[in-house]
Amino acid sequence: MKKRRMKNSFKLLFILLIVISLLVIGITFYLRNIKYTFKLEDKITININDNINPKDYIKEMKNVNVYYDKIDTSKIGTYKIKYTVRTKLNIKHNYYLEVTVIDNRVYEEKEKVEVKKEEPVKEKEVVNNTTSNTGTSSKGYKIEVKNSVTYVNGILIANKTYSLPSTYNPGGLTSETSKAANEMFAAAASVGFNMWAQSAFRSYETQQKLYNRYAARDGKAKADTYSARPGHSEHQTGLAFDVCAKNKPCINSDFNNTAEAKWLSMNAHLYGFILRYPQGKTNETGYLYESWHFRYVGKELASILYNDGDWITLENYLGITSEYKD
Ligand code: DAL
Ligand code: ZN
Repeated sequence: MKKRRMKNSFKLLFILLIVISLLVIGITFYLRNIKYTFKLEDKITININDNINPKDYIKEMKNVNVYYDKIDTSKIGTYKIKYTVRTKLNIKHNYYLEVTVIDNRVYEEKEKVEVKKEEPVKEKEVVNNTTSNTGTSSKGYKIEVKNSVTYVNGILIANKTYSLPSTYNPGGLTSETSKAANEMFAAAASVGFNMWAQSAFRSYETQQKLYNRYAARDGKAKADTYSARPGHSEHQTGLAFDVCAKNKPCINSDFNNTAEAKWLSMNAHLYGFILRYPQGKTNETGYLYESWHFRYVGKELASILYNDGDWITLENYLGITSEYKD
């Protein structure tokens, strides 16, 4: 009797062991083959003709094979690219990434090449700064014009009132500006922000084509709120640039609320840059808010204009206007 009970207990234990083993095998199989993770960015903004890899926009993947379309960066516009995800059991799921292709940097580079080609054969018409606003600003700063370039208290000014001659061409960012920019971007990288100067120096001719394109699209009055007329852009000075950040909206108002834009507005002054067109100061600068446009003025003045985050404009500080005559 006792022997028989023991035999039954062994039998039960054996069955229990088999059940547990099957459960363990089943759970392992489930975890390895059915449970999967796939996370993708929703939207990205990239430059035309950029060489990019769709794989870079996958945030997380586990237990899947992924196949994706190529990203065609040759055309401007917004479209979706498909990521097909196959689980270990060959179950298919589709995910989509919204891609916006813009044309900033390459447009400029193309124009620069064209300008270079034309130079030996074509005599260029020189458009000079016609502003005769020399003397003293409303805040008592000295306004001087040297070689048709206006300096207020020694600071080079390019705005709607003060223009640059069409021949003014430092050939890129000034060395001081690019050195300071590199320092700023290195500091940004050290806290995890991947940023760079997307649109930096623009020649008179490049600005002319850019402005004309915007004016044809939106009308002159609207274009004047966000794009400088040729000769009036700070991008022609070699002291200013627009910042973009990896996987973030680039050179448009969707950049405003990013952590990168906030970091820039709180730290740019430490490297000598000012947020040139702050929010709510359109009546002073002549332009809508641009959270991405920074201008080099040196650390001392930048720290004054920073004003604990309530940026003072160059126009207000120097006592000058930014208005077209017509
Ligand atoms: N977007 C600025 C105002 C420029 O065109 O220079
Ligand atoms: Zn800009």
